[in-house]
Amino acid sequence: MAIPHPREIQTAVVDWLDDRYPFTKSVDEALYQRVPNFANAFYYCFGGMVFILIALQLVTGIFLSFYYVPDAGVPGNSPAYNSVLFIQNTQYLGWLIRGVHFWGANILIVMVLIHMARVYWTGSYRAPRELNWMVGVIMLLCVIFLSLSGYLLPWDTKAYFATEVTIKIAGLAPPAQLGAFIREVLQGGPVVGPATLQRFFTIHVFLLPAVIVLLMYVHFRFIRAHGISEPM
Ligand code: HEM
Repeated sequence: MAIPHPREIQTAVVDWLDDRYPFTKSVDEALYQRVPNFANAFYYCFGGMVFILIALQLVTGIFLSFYYVPDAGVPGNSPAYNSVLFIQNTQYLGWLIRGVHFWGANILIVMVLIHMARVYWTGSYRAPRELNWMVGVIMLLCVIFLSLSGYLLPWDTKAYFATEVTIKIAGLAPPAQLGAFIREVLQGGPVVGPATLQRFFTIHVFLLPAVIVLLMYVHFRFIRAHGISEPM
């Protein structure tokens, strides 16, 4: 029996799948769109760079979570702190994954701000794109809260006291009852402690990534609907 050429196998598999669901058509529709010539100006690339950085954060974050332990333990013997030390010093390439996650988070904030500045500079927040600007503002807040929540996870002295300051500031939100409520929700007890670490971990690893992925989908649907804005 003649051995089929890999391309024949590929066509047969794709045809089999397409007979069951129009995968090729859906992927073509999602990926191929004519883009106006002006969109190759360098300043249109920053949103895409933000997207790539977020993808990188998700991938490196998943690798980190294989080893990170969100358990404060007792003073002087914290599984959370020890697990970060393990990732940094013992686990093969752990230092690299952690370093990429750390620097990615920093560069991400800068890139989001540059992207925002570009959108502002080209007046792209105006009608009909106001809703997409608002979605962007929520994503900006998500990125900031991701940084703040991630900062506590190593559970070292710097992280602990920095988070005390963060929560104190959040607790000053007016009116006083709202501030106190926010503080209670974030802190999970009378002081920054194990419950705070547990909450920040959940916010950092489950809640905010889910929200930002959903919002990116909405952001891109809006961009598809409006088309990219022309330079002024
Ligand atoms: C945080 C994650 C974000 C991602 C992944 C993202 C991604 C993108 C991408 C890929 C584009 C296409 C054009 C370009 O790249 O410049 C875009 C456009 C746009 N973004 Fe974002 N963005 C983010 C945050 C924001 C923020 C913070 C704002 C504003 C507050 C914003 C407002 C807009 C608007 C209004 C457009 C349409 C611009 C146009 O049509 O020229 N985005 N975004």
